[in-house]
Amino acid sequence: MEVFSQIEELKKEIGSSQIDSNEALEQFRIRFLGSKNIIKPIFSKIKEVPNERKKEFGLSVNELKQIAQQKFDDLQQGLASHAEQTEASKIDMSLPVNDGLGARHPIAVVMSRLIQIFERIGFAVEEEREIEDDWHNFTAMNTPDDHPARDMQDTFYLMNSTERLLRTHTSSVQSRVMTRQEPPIRIIAPGRVYRNETISARSHCQFHQVEGLYIDENVSFADMKQTLLYFAKEMYGADTKIRLRPSYFPFTEPSAEMDVWMGTETDVAKRLTKGTGWLEVLGCGMVDPNVLENCNIDSKKYSGFAFGIGIERSAMQKYDISDIRMFFENDIRFLEQFKSVI
Ligand code: DAH
Repeated sequence: MEVFSQIEELKKEIGSSQIDSNEALEQFRIRFLGSKNIIKPIFSKIKEVPNERKKEFGLSVNELKQIAQQKFDDLQQGLASHAEQTEASKIDMSLPVNDGLGARHPIAVVMSRLIQIFERIGFAVEEEREIEDDWHNFTAMNTPDDHPARDMQDTFYLMNSTERLLRTHTSSVQSRVMTRQEPPIRIIAPGRVYRNETISARSHCQFHQVEGLYIDENVSFADMKQTLLYFAKEMYGADTKIRLRPSYFPFTEPSAEMDVWMGTETDVAKRLTKGTGWLEVLGCGMVDPNVLENCNIDSKKYSGFAFGIGIERSAMQKYDISDIRMFFENDIRFLEQFKSVI
């Protein structure tokens, strides 16, 4: 019968349909499953089918419908997973895998090493504010109004203020601690400081220092030298040599700068020491009696020493970093190099 062969034809057509696009799939859907699909009118042909074949007819048309639906589902799935694969093939498998682990910043590494060294000999850590007032940063630290360090070019004042500023050194922590604590005082103060300086490979408008302060009865210059020698040996190695050069700071008298012997053998040492072999590491001195008095500490009874260590310089030396700006750019390619540093 004609209608039976029509059904067979359609089954064949469905079976051999090759579909490779969403448009072609939509055509297939309209033809076999849409509201005006080609199978629907076949059902009404049941009238023409003799009674003894009506059952066979019914089964056959239903099967045709099922085949069409099945084929559609399969094709649809096939197209979707093909699309997924194409998407997946866009992934660049040669890219390095990110292990998701961060690393400590080299500045933080050097700071905590320093803290460790001084904690071992009884220095307590004091962390203080970065926004300071003029008195704690300058006046208390024996820095008179007309001192060059107060120049607007060096100090960031807060908007419309002559009082509030970003601390220019961690020495401000000295006055903070001395005004609230009686001697003996033995502290180190790590932290960030700010200066209005032109940014270059060698200087930045923000950097880090660790301040040290020791106040007690009969503290001498020799105590300071021994403490700093201990620090240098711990930091740079057991046979490290140091030298103290006379210097000037408003808050210490006498004042000195400490250099560490790096030698001139390696290129790094030559570059960092500008060929002299000596690397300047810190400023130090005996706390000026004026500073003690400003902070209500009896300068006849007590004496002390203080020092300020620049962290960036040490970190640059330790890791052979040539440009200070790298510390603040947070470029992943720079930071990643310190993953093995603990
Ligand atoms: N505050 C000084 C600076 O920023 C460093 C310094 C020098 C700190 C001598 C001290 C010191 O405590 O005694 O350059």
